[in-house]
Amino acid sequence: MTESRKHSGPASGFSRRAFLKGSGAVAAVTALHGQQAVAEQNQEDTTLVRGATTISLNVNGKSHQVKVEPRTTLLEVLRHQLDLTGAKPVSMDGSSGASTVWVAGKTVMASTTLALTCRDKEIRTVESLGGANPDAVPLAFVKHDAEQCGFCTPGFVVAVRAFLDKNPQATEEQIRQGLNGNICRCGTYANIIQAAIDLVKGGGNG
Ligand code: FES
Repeated sequence: MTESRKHSGPASGFSRRAFLKGSGAVAAVTALHGQQAVAEQNQEDTTLVRGATTISLNVNGKSHQVKVEPRTTLLEVLRHQLDLTGAKPVSMDGSSGASTVWVAGKTVMASTTLALTCRDKEIRTVESLGGANPDAVPLAFVKHDAEQCGFCTPGFVVAVRAFLDKNPQATEEQIRQGLNGNICRCGTYANIIQAAIDLVKGGGNG
């Protein structure tokens, strides 16, 4: 190795090693925070149930009898028992946002939510935004070509709908921050953001 190559580190003093160390710490803190939130979310009324049990879940306005074990996630029930395959099993730790659904009016990751904790709560999935009269959000996604492989799309559609319901006059910056829990591996962010901006401008948020 030549002398110049040996000493060719970044002039700013920001080394690759420091970057990897820093990003690792951030990932660890994020993971810990996420695990704690999931544990708190799931501790509710699962402790007294052993083995499989039949429960009733209210999904998109319909009541369903489903068989679950304490470890069964809401995502498994939606996809394998109710054939509601919109929410996607992209990341079982919920970090992709692809399994975003509503439970009791709040967005949660179905992949990290135990089905038992959803008893007596209203569950809404992306399928509730489709049908004969689709919601404005999926229509805006189509208009702005806001998908490629589509795996992230249902989670983003729910996230956009939930965010705009609470922030109908959001700025572009607020939209970007509001959607930062969802990841698109194909990189269609620009089109997704544009769809959301269009909805704010066009008032299609009701
Ligand atoms: S469209 Fe492929 S992950 Fe978003």
